[in-house]
Amino acid sequence: MNTGQGSEIRDAAVTVMRRCGSLANISEEPGLIVRPYGSQAMNETNDIVAGWMGEAGMSTRRDAIGNLIGRYEGTGEKTFVIGSHLDTVRDAGNYDGILGVMVALACVQQLHNRGERLPFSVEVVAFADEEGLRFGTTFLGSSVYAGAFEEELLSLEDHEGVTLREAVRAFGGDPDALESDGRRGGDLRGYLEVHIEQGPMLEQEDLPVGVVSAISGQSRVGVGFTGEAGHAGTVPMGSRRDALCAAAEFVVDVEHAARREPGSVATVGEISSLPGASNVIPGEAKLSLDVRHPEDAARERLRDHLEARAREIAACRGCESEWRVRQQTGAVAMDAELCALLERAVEETGTPATRLSSGAGHDAMQVAVLAPVAMLFVRCERGISHNPAESVDTDDVGAAIEVVRNLLSLVSRRVEPEGAQEGE
Ligand code: HGY
Ligand code: MN
Ligand code: MN
Repeated sequence: MNTGQGSEIRDAAVTVMRRCGSLANISEEPGLIVRPYGSQAMNETNDIVAGWMGEAGMSTRRDAIGNLIGRYEGTGEKTFVIGSHLDTVRDAGNYDGILGVMVALACVQQLHNRGERLPFSVEVVAFADEEGLRFGTTFLGSSVYAGAFEEELLSLEDHEGVTLREAVRAFGGDPDALESDGRRGGDLRGYLEVHIEQGPMLEQEDLPVGVVSAISGQSRVGVGFTGEAGHAGTVPMGSRRDALCAAAEFVVDVEHAARREPGSVATVGEISSLPGASNVIPGEAKLSLDVRHPEDAARERLRDHLEARAREIAACRGCESEWRVRQQTGAVAMDAELCALLERAVEETGTPATRLSSGAGHDAMQVAVLAPVAMLFVRCERGISHNPAESVDTDDVGAAIEVVRNLLSLVSRRVEPEGAQEGE
């Protein structure tokens, strides 16, 4: 434990770690963490976190899609928002998303413990769906919060054929209010998201935290190949229209194409084939494609190349291909002024302020249409994430809490970034 951190910060960091650990036990499946949108596990998690928000002196509400929003009143008109997500990928770690909400809670709890009111209110937002595990589209929670929800998504179906519309209603939300229930941005002073880095940079630089400069854009596509199911024992190799072989050739092409495009990453995370029997030639194969790049033009170029390759591979194999773009998110630069304040908040802890870009998507990308946004990354062991081995150090969590507290103080004092005139 870093002795430089005061006991209040240390205690808060220990509470954050304990809470991340306890929420990790809330899952749709025993033995691994999986908390998809609208699940019972998400309901339970929201209830527990709402209780912690109440203990920190916050009023709480859920919006039309089920984002949980805690509000700690201040003395002025403005509101500063700190948030992240509580949903997870499948077989997740303890910290992706959850850490950011718990750190935000810890900072408000400290204000409450001191009976301190800032010259602005603080809202803590726990987004209901960032990963897109259930419906394949990310940012469902923060897109509603930002007033940017696309109504055509309501007809999306999950693996059980439940539509998003039905899932929102079952989660206690109002699918007909998703486009109108956004958080108006007029009073927002800014948005901060604290998140594990999910990469190796901070560990390599031996820094506990870092300031995010920009977030890569992403394209999420559903790709399908249709051939002809047949008897594994009787159809000669030369006359097959094997959909899974077409998909397999495409998967390897994805890797080769992304390696050739500097700065890009492309992933096939899901693949399925039908009818799914060992002695039947697959007639159908479906896969997910995730393409990302810091520059949108390069991402679109790679995406279009892969769409053409899917068609070519299918044609050579007598198959059909299907290409359905499920979602596209452009790259987002963080707000310069808020980043400068955040860097100053980092430096006030005695840590050098480093900047790094994010290959992972974050809710800040959506909130950026409403308010100035900034992100603080927290070092995570070997950069591992989307994996139960995800791990952060309590001292680094303490450093993050201290940075957030410094930022709130700088914003309170209306301190301008370095070089500008202080104060009014
Ligand atoms: O996929 C992502 O970038 C994030 O974890 N949703
Ligand atoms: Mn994630
Ligand atoms: Mn995340």
